[in-house]
Amino acid sequence: MPVIVDRDPQVIATLSAMLPPGTHAVDSADRLLAWLNNRSDEYVVFLGPNVPMDEATALCDQLRITQPSTTVVIVRDVVDTEILSKAMQAGARDVVLTTDHGAVIAAVNRAQTLWVALRGPGGAAHVGQIITVFSPKGGVGKTTTSVNLALALSQGGARKVCLVDLDLAFGDVAITMQLVPAHTIEEAIGAEDQLDEAMIETLLTRHEDSLMVLAAPALPDARDRITARLVSKMLRTLKQQFDFVVVDTAPSFDEQTLQALDETDECVIVATLDVPTLKNVKVAFETLDLLSIAVDHRHLVLNRADDAVGLDNAKVEAILGVAISVPIPTAVEVAAATNAGRPIVLANADHAASRAFRDLARAVAGDDVLDPETSRNGTKKPDAERRGNRKIFRRG
Ligand SMILES: Nc1ncnc2c1ncn2[C@@H]1O[C@H](COP(=O)(O)OP(=O)(O)OP(=O)(O)O)[C@@H](O)[C@H]1O
Ligand SMILES: [Mg+2]
Repeated sequence: MPVIVDRDPQVIATLSAMLPPGTHAVDSADRLLAWLNNRSDEYVVFLGPNVPMDEATALCDQLRITQPSTTVVIVRDVVDTEILSKAMQAGARDVVLTTDHGAVIAAVNRAQTLWVALRGPGGAAHVGQIITVFSPKGGVGKTTTSVNLALALSQGGARKVCLVDLDLAFGDVAITMQLVPAHTIEEAIGAEDQLDEAMIETLLTRHEDSLMVLAAPALPDARDRITARLVSKMLRTLKQQFDFVVVDTAPSFDEQTLQALDETDECVIVATLDVPTLKNVKVAFETLDLLSIAVDHRHLVLNRADDAVGLDNAKVEAILGVAISVPIPTAVEVAAATNAGRPIVLANADHAASRAFRDLARAVAGDDVLDPETSRNGTKKPDAERRGNRKIFRRG
């Protein structure tokens, strides 16, 4: 995915709004290098106007050697011949104006084309997004959200989606989807260094052709043997195979959840209308801030948003300082659908809760997720077109 470097949040917001949903932002060249150190699959870097030209050209020089298939785009408020010639000498592939939407999109498209040309069609697979569904509280609707979000994203198979049950001790994704997994994450224990696409495929369980599930271990004791490194390897491998990897989590910042959050492109945080949950969700947001996780890529889901319990949506936003991305109504049909093993987006696509889950899918992935023109074979529009109504939150 694209990475933006700039210390000004306003510049980051402007550029993020033009770029694909998974775009990451860092505030310095050092942080960029640390980020790229673990991610040789980032295909384009935007150096914002607050990165001094000398630093920008030094970075271009360096990345040309260390990551030759990654395009560097220099973004300036003003472009003159001196900047152009310095950029060219340093090996930047594009120089664009901060405000030139068309040029930014064209630069992303050129970067993707070059990436595929240099790394082969498999090189384009990096565009898969990891979406982690998290809440510090149990029973608030994480699994319900994960399952329905994954199904909404898959659109009956138009998108390749994998749902990972990272609630490693008490995961219930499989049962929620009436699946009887023959294999689980447990079989990957110890395979941190061998795990590849072929191996991970053997561990997946297919749900109605449209969705693959990586099920949690059958017994809780396996959790402690699943290392953060294994989680990282699994998610990175899945990201190469799927358009979306949705991760359901346990209600705590355990090491596996933290690793998933660290790898995630988009983070969905689930809250409900009760004060203890909101208190914990606020602490969770602060923790995500401290760890710089999914900054600008967080989506607050308020589940059971219409419960009459003396708190309303506006109060929740005031308490958390975060806008609600999607409210999900309480409905007996949601629970009944789960109990019947046929989640609400499949059981009743017109239900208000199903519409809400589709809204969430659009919010995390961009408008084209529900585009009827999307081809059935899982191909995606160019990333640069995959923006839309993704909400960028600024916490106050
Ligand atoms: N909007 C809703 N309306 C009615 N019932 C709901 C709704 N959302 C979730 N539920 C029900 O609430 C229960 C808990 O939901 P779910 O299992 O998704 O929560 P969870 O956060 O994953 O829990 P855990 O922390 O135990 O994993 C389930 O029985 C589910 O069917
Ligand atoms: Mg759950």
